[in-house]
Amino acid sequence: MLKRGSEITLEIEKFADRGKSIARLDGYVVFVPGGIPGDKLRVRVVKTKRKYAEAVTLDVLKPSPYRTEPVCSYFGTCGGCKWQHVTYEAQLEAKTQSVREALEHHGGFEKISIAPAIGANPIYRYRNKMEYSFSAQRWLTSDEIASGRAFDMSFALGLHVPGNFSKVLDLTECHLHSETGVRVVNFVRRFVREKEWQAWHIRNHTGFLRHLVLRSGHATGEFMVNLVTSGYDSERMESLSSELQKAIPEVTTFVNTINRGVAQTAYGDEIHTIFGPGVIHDRIGPHIFEIASNAFFQTNTAQAERLYDVAAGFAELKQNDLVYDLYSGAGTISIYVANRVSRVIGVELVPEAVENATRNAKTNSIENVSFFAGDMMRLFDEEFIAKHGRPDVLIVDPPRAGMHPRVVKQIRRLRPERFVYLSCNPLSQARDLKMLADTFSIEAVQPVDLFPHTHHIENVVKLRAR
Ligand SMILES: C[S@@+](CC[C@H](N)C(=O)[O-])C[C@H]1O[C@@H](n2cnc3c(N)ncnc32)[C@H](O)[C@@H]1O
Repeated sequence: MLKRGSEITLEIEKFADRGKSIARLDGYVVFVPGGIPGDKLRVRVVKTKRKYAEAVTLDVLKPSPYRTEPVCSYFGTCGGCKWQHVTYEAQLEAKTQSVREALEHHGGFEKISIAPAIGANPIYRYRNKMEYSFSAQRWLTSDEIASGRAFDMSFALGLHVPGNFSKVLDLTECHLHSETGVRVVNFVRRFVREKEWQAWHIRNHTGFLRHLVLRSGHATGEFMVNLVTSGYDSERMESLSSELQKAIPEVTTFVNTINRGVAQTAYGDEIHTIFGPGVIHDRIGPHIFEIASNAFFQTNTAQAERLYDVAAGFAELKQNDLVYDLYSGAGTISIYVANRVSRVIGVELVPEAVENATRNAKTNSIENVSFFAGDMMRLFDEEFIAKHGRPDVLIVDPPRAGMHPRVVKQIRRLRPERFVYLSCNPLSQARDLKMLADTFSIEAVQPVDLFPHTHHIENVVKLRAR
């Protein structure tokens, strides 16, 4: 039995769920964050439970062949990337493996053939959206502490450290984001520091500056700055706006979202457009999409196109098909496939996203799609199906939690010939597919990586009615 505080030598066996790594010692599982399969490590045990222990690395005695040099100076502290020290090939292999394990352990599917995850290119600076937080409580990296410098601990603009909700790492670089994005972060920090605007205090609920959300159109170059504050101050916004336009002309629009509540979110009902149109545009394939400050849009545009190509291929689309695109967001999948089929029906919970989708269809001169706002659990009933017709193809792309059991039941009853399930969470996807196993057979599984250096993966499953 391992003891807390003991120091031992381990060899990392494999990656486990959510990017953790595991080693085994006398059949006992030890989780070691940051370990890579093949690493021989000296570790200290920090937690022991009946079936497993957790340990931290003290020393890498023999590095894994999959180790590589991280590019970012915040790596190891920042919650944005967990795998910069793992070669990209090994990341993809680990993601493919995580899909396999989800389907086997949570879905009960044995011996399913899973195609290797489709990798992204580029693997850095791929994000079209970054959500930074302000905090009146700064977190220091070990290098910052070791430097002996004095830091103002009452201000930070950056990302949270894992497991600490109130403290923020003050970031001056980020390799997932564009160079323009990083320049905007550093400009905004300098500006608000000079003006002595206060950062939000997560526990006391005081301060003005809450989040800085930056979005860009990968194909159009348009750039949105969305500053989330606890109240509206037109003078402050005007002064920031004019300096921002001078300093970073790439910014095409600046909006100010007001969140007066205590919940730590970058959303709010009140949105002021300070300059520009208040929206940006991006392209997926030949289609152009308008993106509002609060709209869902895939964060890796280039890779979203590959994802949609896989989904469209799996759907084996035919000119006469009626397609249902469920959990349709801003209508991107519906619009992407519309020209190849007879009609598409989209269903989405958020009414603004449905308005956005309807406008997007119009902009792209697509007339054979209709979007409906509502909760799938209630809207997707016999009456809805009778009204819109029985689909030949069903495409679903639910949020991380997966589908409500009532929706799964309805899909069983509906039993469309072709069914494509996209998911950003292979665990909930496997659980849902288990409930559908008697109605559909799995014909292909294709993971697509939209998020290099994180453990996240999109997975597409092709199903056919039995
Ligand atoms: C992963 S996104 C997919 C969006 C879109 N397919 C895309 O690729 O951009 C999931 C979407 O499901 C919507 N959603 C979440 N819960 C829902 C529900 N109960 N009923 C309908 N839509 C829901 C979310 O608002 C979100 O737009």
